[in-house]
Amino acid sequence: MFRQVAVVLFYCSLSVLQVHCFINGWSQASNLLLAGSKTYLSYSDSIAAGANHAMSECKHQFMWDRWNCPDNSLSLFTELNPTREMSFVHAISTAGVMFTLTKNCSMGDFTKCGCDNSKVGQMGGDNWQWGGCSDNVDFGERVSKTFIDGLETGEDARAVTNLHNNEVGRKVVRKTMQRRCKCHGVSGSCSIQTCWDQLADFRVIGSILKKKYLDAVRVDYLRGQLIDGLVTSTNEEQETSEDSTAMKKRNLVYLERSPDYCNANSTIGTRGTEGRECLRHPKDDASADEMDAWQQRSCKRLCTKCGLRVKKTKIVVETSCNCQFQWCCNVKCDKCKTEKNIFTCEIL
Ligand SMILES: *[C@@H]1O[C@H](CO)[C@@H](O)[C@H](O)[C@H]1NC(C)=O
Ligand SMILES: *[C@@H]1O[C@H](CO)[C@@H](O)[C@H](O)[C@H]1NC(C)=O
Repeated sequence: MFRQVAVVLFYCSLSVLQVHCFINGWSQASNLLLAGSKTYLSYSDSIAAGANHAMSECKHQFMWDRWNCPDNSLSLFTELNPTREMSFVHAISTAGVMFTLTKNCSMGDFTKCGCDNSKVGQMGGDNWQWGGCSDNVDFGERVSKTFIDGLETGEDARAVTNLHNNEVGRKVVRKTMQRRCKCHGVSGSCSIQTCWDQLADFRVIGSILKKKYLDAVRVDYLRGQLIDGLVTSTNEEQETSEDSTAMKKRNLVYLERSPDYCNANSTIGTRGTEGRECLRHPKDDASADEMDAWQQRSCKRLCTKCGLRVKKTKIVVETSCNCQFQWCCNVKCDKCKTEKNIFTCEIL
């Protein structure tokens, strides 16, 4: 059954409309799955929404990086080289799909699934008991695992790597769940609370995965297992220590070094950094600590280090200003024009 899913995605990789095709691919995959299980068809919209959500979060997280999550990353994600970037794409898309499936389930969008009420009424601690509607991550995890892990048909290094990174994505969704509580008792005395667990904001999940991307570990594949790449390169015979195995479970892993992404490469769908905007803040603008250091160094990273120059362009932006409240009930504003500098990478 899953072999057919892979065929659909491969067909899609030839399409120009990569993202749409990915989504269609999923819907078609669901049609194929319909033969096996009718239930899965009802999840296809949710899965497509999850994949889209993951994609826009990926673009947000990599806004100031050389590799900025090009549109084909998702549709080709079982075929592109297993680099650090692809490890992120695997984790975030699996997380995105698990996230939306779980949310849809809590919202009552699916007939066969609802909130996790298994502990309602039980005491959770000294002064609180389980209540409300906990997000049903077990459901989201199970279905996303069937779908996304099912895309890996091989049993080679790449498949094992992809499955590992998918699992990292799912773990982050589960681990970032937050407990929410509501007070009860005489006039809000809060002598008893009811609590439930809910998913974190997807931005939180995206940011954690971005950190994991920066800490990703290069691995080798030996005798059916992933082992720390550093271990094999320094000592062929050395077995992996328990430490490095434990570490790998939490870490994103990749098999191949990335290109520098300075230049366009149509095979991997990257456009290079020429023409990209970067951020540079003059003294009278935002103070340094208001700005993310990563963003602040973006001109150096995107332009200078790729052999491009930073071009400054003055642009005029129109904003609302001198706003006044008028009785009743309007706000009247003037249009003000302010000059702003933008920086882009240009050929020397
Ligand atoms: C699930 O959630 C997504 C995004 O919030 C929404 O687009 C979709 O319509 C929902 N329902 C189903 C059945 O997928
Ligand atoms: C583009 O990327 C592919 C895959 O990483 C690589 O094999 C090829 O050499 C690259 N092409 C150029 C022109 O850099």
